[in-house]
Amino acid sequence: MNDTPRRIAPDDIDAIAALARRVWQATYPPLISQAQIDHMLAERYAAERMHDQLADPLHAWWIAGAPAAGFAHAHLDGPVCKLDKLYVRPDRQRHGLGAALLAAAVDWARMQGMARMRLQVNRGNAQAIRAYRKYGFAVVESRIFDIGNGFVMDDHVMELPL
Ligand SMILES: CC(C)(COP(=O)(O)OP(=O)(O)OC[C@H]1O[C@@H](n2cnc3c(N)ncnc32)[C@H](O)[C@@H]1OP(=O)(O)O)[C@@H](O)C(=O)NCCC(=O)NCCS
Repeated sequence: MNDTPRRIAPDDIDAIAALARRVWQATYPPLISQAQIDHMLAERYAAERMHDQLADPLHAWWIAGAPAAGFAHAHLDGPVCKLDKLYVRPDRQRHGLGAALLAAAVDWARMQGMARMRLQVNRGNAQAIRAYRKYGFAVVESRIFDIGNGFVMDDHVMELPL
């Protein structure tokens, strides 16, 4: 099985959106409402938005596994690379796939001259927080973010020096 992460192509967009829904439904119901899950999935994985990001050199997406088992998305924001998404299919978690996807994003961010990587993670998502700490991230801020439409995110902001 070849789990080496690769940059995604337009043909991967549908598989990523489907995988996102699967992982979100396995992760977020204890943490955020179903309405918020549906809203965020529809917004963040809209095909048009993903196509735009594929054409934008400030964004990069990776996929791993066939069939798709995990994906990551990062984008450049000034001196910081934001790790916007890191998701692994539940039956493939804890086998190093998240670490491999993160390594691909870190390599890319270093090539772009970024000094640090930043992410947000729900304060109740203990499994992901444990993973990020293991990868070397540290909490730099914790607060509630208003994301509009009546929804909020109660997040840690974590950073990794590159
Ligand atoms: C967080 C996530 C991306 C990590 O990817 P992964 O492939 O499962 O993790 P790795 O195999 O790279 O393991 C890294 C570490 O994460 C922690 N971890 C991962 N799954 C865990 C679990 N079920 N229980 C406890 N610790 C866990 C461990 O510290 C692990 O290291 P170890 O196995 O040597 O102890 C993945 O678990 C995931 O997709 N979770 C659900 C979605 C999510 O919350 N994404 C992050 C959104 S901000």
